[in-house]
Amino acid sequence: MTGFRRDGAVAVITGAASGIGRGLGRALVGRAESVVLADIDGDALSIVADELAGAGLPALAVPTDVSDLDAVDTLVARTLERFGRADLVVANAGIGAPHAPFFELEPADVERVMAVNYFGVHWTVRAFARHLLDRPGPGHFLVTGSENSLGAPVLRMAGYTASKHAVHGLADVMRRELPPRIGVTLLCPGIVNTALAPVGENDGSRAGIGYGADEVATWALDAVERGDFYCIPHPPIREFVDERHDEISATFDARAPRFDGDGVHDTRALLARMMPERVQPIDDPLA
Ligand SMILES: NC(=O)c1ccc[n+]([C@@H]2O[C@H](COP(=O)([O-])OP(=O)(O)OC[C@H]3O[C@@H](n4cnc5c(N)ncnc54)[C@H](O)[C@@H]3O)[C@@H](O)[C@H]2O)c1
Repeated sequence: MTGFRRDGAVAVITGAASGIGRGLGRALVGRAESVVLADIDGDALSIVADELAGAGLPALAVPTDVSDLDAVDTLVARTLERFGRADLVVANAGIGAPHAPFFELEPADVERVMAVNYFGVHWTVRAFARHLLDRPGPGHFLVTGSENSLGAPVLRMAGYTASKHAVHGLADVMRRELPPRIGVTLLCPGIVNTALAPVGENDGSRAGIGYGADEVATWALDAVERGDFYCIPHPPIREFVDERHDEISATFDARAPRFDGDGVHDTRALLARMMPERVQPIDDPLA
């Protein structure tokens, strides 16, 4: 638990011009103090900023390509210049990718999906971490993964799935490295009715598709306030998560059951003895 509350927060949202990011902006109206909106689509971003400002939430639009380290540093600078602080950092920008078997995916497409969905998230949390650490009080990172962070429900999406597993790994290490006053939530939705959803075109075939972006945004902010690490709004995801974990457990049972003295193979115990900093949070600079 971080004690984080969205009330009065300065929030930064990447991928804010559309879908879940836009839903998060809307969900912060009447709750956050102000919001910084970042997206590669500057025109759409201005429209969302105007909408939120019109609804009473001061919004600064900063056109940003999150895969560009310098652009993300500029996003931090513009945020601090305008509002003096960031309390909730939402690394949400993401793209889909062409669908094909893993060996037919174009290298440029795989590189781009990693550049946005993984590096874009890593650069965003990297750039804001120092600020959250160096100023007092609670802070929170909300990172948008996917059900594809937790398993492989859809085939012909190897690059996307790998990028979302990478985000899971990043967020899991972040939450263990950061001091307790800075929380991390990993949003892992199933299909959400946005432009990115891997179903139909925007022609009515989307009717009846699970949650909308605004509902998922509310789920995510509730999870942030509770200090939950995982936010998984779609119950059926449990099926393939359980399948994976059952298979792993069965593999241990069959091939590598515990035995007396197996501690010599225990990475955590060995590191705790020899390199304790590798298994402890970083020191809080303000503690
Ligand atoms: N829609 C789904 O079914 C679904 C399911 C699970 C996870 N997600 C994830 O949710 C996140 C948001 O997606 P969405 O469904 O709202 O889609 P969306 O396409 O509606 O919104 C994504 C936004 O990210 C922006 N963006 C793309 N590349 C960018 C870049 N390089 N820099 C900055 N902004 C960039 C786009 O312009 C767009 O505004 C993504 O990370 C996506 O992978 C979506």
